[in-house]
Amino acid sequence: MSTAIDRFDDKARRTFDSIGRTEVYRGELLRHPVYTRVLHWTVALFFFLALFSGFGIYLPWLFRWFTPIFGGGPLARAMHPWFGLGFVLVFSLQVLNWLRPMAWTKTDTEWILNIKRVVSGQETLEAPETGFFNAGQKAQFWEIVIGSVAYLIAGIIMWIGAPAFGRLAVAVSYVIHDISALIMLGGIFIHIYLSTIGEPGTFHSMTRGAVSEAWAWTFHPAWYKQVTGRDPRQAYEEAKRKMDAQK
Ligand code: HEM
Repeated sequence: MSTAIDRFDDKARRTFDSIGRTEVYRGELLRHPVYTRVLHWTVALFFFLALFSGFGIYLPWLFRWFTPIFGGGPLARAMHPWFGLGFVLVFSLQVLNWLRPMAWTKTDTEWILNIKRVVSGQETLEAPETGFFNAGQKAQFWEIVIGSVAYLIAGIIMWIGAPAFGRLAVAVSYVIHDISALIMLGGIFIHIYLSTIGEPGTFHSMTRGAVSEAWAWTFHPAWYKQVTGRDPRQAYEEAKRKMDAQK
């Protein structure tokens, strides 16, 4: 049964696909269509604008040099909540877009319980059940969702201020806002590392939209099986045999 969200997302995807371009070469799979990529980079843009303007306000003795980008300290302070609002609004569209692949499953809980093996690199391939996103990606996504709700509520209280909400509510909001910012910032460092050098081949999924089949069977075997109909372990063994024969 198609829902209002599905219909909204399908229309947006079709519109963006007719404007932008996705290049998928032989031996590759489509990973992120234009709509997803535009949303992702707009979210990232608002995130970094909010971050840099926020740093200038929060730690001026250290990050004063960020404020000229925004036309000075007072302008950085005035624009920061708008950047935050832009971040939350565009990320909300990404939440609708990714609601299905980000749904938490029993397999994800097992992945998290098995995290030591995953990060220690003891396995050549991810667990065979790992689908479009792994549990680590999903956990970070839901952390950003919770963080965005916290920003929205705390941010509005801080923005409008004590006369409307009282001094206690404003003080608590500052604490919530800052804790959320620190958690999200730490997560984004890990995210950028994993999306670039940590898991080579991931970055161009968000630039031209495609990944190699080898990337797919290595990091997201269940998704590889779903889109190609082939067994990821078998595909890996075959590719390895071919490479060994060429040596
Ligand atoms: C220079 C900065 C960034 C880079 C290089 C980057 C790169 C990427 C890439 C390549 C993917 C696709 C991963 C996949 O298909 O498996 C992705 C996904 C994603 N990005 Fe980013 N990103 C950046 C900034 C951000 C920011 C600022 C946010 C939000 C605050 C964000 C949120 C997400 C989320 C939620 C996903 C989906 C789940 C995941 O892969 O973790 N990204 N990013």
